[in-house]
Order: sequence, then structure tokens, then C-alpha cells
Amino acid sequence: MSNISALHQALVERLKQEGLIRTPRVEAAFRAVPRHLFLPDVPLEKVYKDDAIVTKYLDGKPVSSSSQPAVMAIMLEQLDLQPGDRVLEIGAGTGYNAALMAHIVGESGQVIAIDIDEDIVQDAQMHLEKAGFEQVKVICADGGFGYPSAAPYDRIILTVAAWDIAIAWQEQLKPQGRLVLPLTLKDDIQITIAFELADGYLVSVSTSNCGFMKLRGAFAEPQEVQKAQKNISFRLKKLLIQVGTMLLLPLPLQLRLKLYNLTRFGRSSLQGMRIRVYPQNTQYRPAANELAIAKRWTQVILDWQ
Ligand SMILES: C[S@@+](CC[C@H](N)C(=O)[O-])C[C@H]1O[C@@H](n2cnc3c(N)ncnc32)[C@H](O)[C@@H]1O
Repeated sequence: MSNISALHQALVERLKQEGLIRTPRVEAAFRAVPRHLFLPDVPLEKVYKDDAIVTKYLDGKPVSSSSQPAVMAIMLEQLDLQPGDRVLEIGAGTGYNAALMAHIVGESGQVIAIDIDEDIVQDAQMHLEKAGFEQVKVICADGGFGYPSAAPYDRIILTVAAWDIAIAWQEQLKPQGRLVLPLTLKDDIQITIAFELADGYLVSVSTSNCGFMKLRGAFAEPQEVQKAQKNISFRLKKLLIQVGTMLLLPLPLQLRLKLYNLTRFGRSSLQGMRIRVYPQNTQYRPAANELAIAKRWTQVILDWQ
């Protein structure tokens, strides 16, 4: 086994042992597709560490990366891709995730990957060709609109954090489809969620912690939220030290503790949490044990079971 192959397979083995790669299809894809072909200018030791690698900055801020392999594994397991599926990825980046998905869906399936920057699209195309996945269609567009001309999709995945759920993503999903995305719930709390369609709303079937760069374009987090966010992060840090759980007093006790756990302790606190997403115009009335978060187009309802 060559040095590259040894590094590559060792990373896959680690993801498997950590229980992040759980199914044979996801494992086979990770074993078959080498990450270094998508990060040609990055030293191999760095490529095969379980880290996110930033590939583009704008005004000093990171805007594109190859996501952390552990998080990619979690999200691919959440996506539950099947051979023959048609899948839309929003956030093509380096093209690595698109290649993994193309390996899973096989020749009878189709992967369409969108990115908002033309230079990123060109690089992703080049990487995919070199890796033998020229069948993946890479499009330059704002993923907030989905990609209607190839819809409906069995699966839609965002590899960039959304603040709200764009109507297009629900509309372009097949009735038995699945939408997987990192969603900013409140303040800076991001969770990767697998949603399925229920009767007029989306319901979570799986959740996990994550940290992604934010969606840009027409469906980016509103400016006023970003500004408030900056203030909150500063005040929250101060207040958490001073008053701890008191900060969340207006919420029912159980939810308060859960949310506090969520902000402070991460993964284990997600156990039992269910997330439903209703279009704003349905005016869903939350019950006493539910936490409602108002977004621009949707209302997000959390409860614990
Ligand atoms: C974390 S990277 C994606 C990683 C990628 N899946 C990979 O395997 O390398 C997030 C990507 O989302 C893209 N992005 C941000 N806003 C977008 C939008 N509105 N539509 C499409 N892509 C967007 C960024 O340009 C960036 O390349």
C-alpha cells in the first residue's frame, strides 16, 4: 500500500471506529474516493487529518472549504442515499462530497452540485474530472433557489449553514424525499438535521451538532440578525458566566434546561429533540412544552420526546 493510500484508509478506519461511518455504502464511498484529489495544493498529512480545510477567503473571511470528514460522514449517513437516487447538493466547494455521493448513487443516479462562485465551480469540475466523476453536473447558481430544472430530487443536501428553510427546497423534494442541512436554530446554535416531509410540514428524523460557514446570496441570514448576533455573542458570554441558566428564565423549565444544555454541552443534549418546520402562513400555535423559533419564511418548533 502506498503512503497516500495508507493515510487515506487510516482516516476512513478512524471514522468507522468512531461510529461516524455506519453503513457499507458510505464506507465504500469514503474508501474509494481519495480526498487529496480535491485539495491538490494541500500537504497530504493535512488532507488526511480529520479537519475542515479552508480553500477560499473573501475580505479575510473564510467562504469555502472542504468540510471536516467526520461531519461529512455524519451528514451522508443522515442523507441515506440509495443507488439510482437523484441528489442536489448546495455548496459544491471542492467537489469531494459530490464525488462521494456520485459513488453511492452509481451510474443510474445523478448528482447535481451548485455553488455560488464561478471560480469554485470551475475548480470543483476540474477535481471531479480528475477523480473520474465527470458525470457530476456542477452549476454556478444561488442554491437558495434550488435547481428547478432537474427537480424533483430524492435527496437535497446543504453543505453550508442555512438560517431558514427556503421554500424551493421543500418544493423540489419528492414526497418520500429527504432534506439534510445545517440549520442555525438560535443565536449561533447550528445543528445538522435530516428532514422528511410530513403533512404540510417537515419533521426531523435525525440531528447532530455541526459548525459550517454560512449561506451567502439572496437567502443569507438577514443583516439585522447578524448584527444582533454579534451583540448577543458578546453579552451571552458575559451573562452565562454571571447568571447561567437564569438567562433562559422566560422559557418553561424543562426547555430552558434543554436549551441551556444545547448551548453549553453539545451532542448528548440533542437526544430526544424533535424539530418541525412549518411555513409561516400556516400559523402553527405551539403547545406549552414546545419552543417556537420564528424565521423569515418558516416557524421552527422544538420539542423533546
Ligand atoms: C463548506 S463549503 C462546501 C464543501 C463541499 N461540499 C466539499 O465537499 O468540498 C460551502 C460552500 O457553499 C458555497 N455557498 C455559499 N452560499 C451559497 C449559495 N447561496 N448557493 C450555493 N453555494 C453556496 C460556498 O461558496 C462554499 O463553496
